[in-house]
Amino acid sequence: MNIAVFASGRGSNFSAILRAKKSGRISADISLLVCDNPKAPVIGKAKRAGVEVFLVKREGFSSGKDFEEAIILRLQQAKIDLIVLAGYMRLLSPEFTQKFKYKILNIHPALLPSFKGTQGIEDAFNYGVKLCGVTVHFVDEEMDHGPIILQVAVKIEEADSLESLESKVHKLEHKVYPQAIRLFTEGRLRVQGRKVRIL
Ligand code: GAR
Repeated sequence: MNIAVFASGRGSNFSAILRAKKSGRISADISLLVCDNPKAPVIGKAKRAGVEVFLVKREGFSSGKDFEEAIILRLQQAKIDLIVLAGYMRLLSPEFTQKFKYKILNIHPALLPSFKGTQGIEDAFNYGVKLCGVTVHFVDEEMDHGPIILQVAVKIEEADSLESLESKVHKLEHKVYPQAIRLFTEGRLRVQGRKVRIL
């Protein structure tokens, strides 16, 4: 099984997935990194690990459709079975998500459906909730919305700052995402409507 990771930034989840592969917790190959940001640190991480990088800038295409078609072609060439979004800060079109229905995973740093968007941790912290966490879900046409695979909570203590909370949430992400990927690659996920059953 071949996995493509999509990322736009730092790539700490990408590194966690690579570590899981190295230690045998994930047996599928991390075959490709798709990145839309030439300045993203994740690119160097992939290169150092020998993972092929497909750097594809939206500005290089006249339409979003052409941009996504270039990505689809590359995914087909690499015979990708699973797409893992790890901080990919671009919304996929409904055509794209339909084409790879139940084959795209996303991680979100909050307990969905709360605090969707690009600042989940900060929004939860500023709201004053006492519990936040991490959600891994299948991707559908709506942002941070598809059927939930795994969800793990973390307590926000009075002593927590935004920085300490971020560090707790990221640490949790690095544990939970490889677990969800493993469940997918072992064929243990069954989607029934909005519910995901783990076999
Ligand atoms: C992660 O915290 C991930 O949950 C978040 O982007 C960060 C990427 O960090 N994704 C979203 O907010 C999606 N809505 P990383 O580049 O260090 O893996």
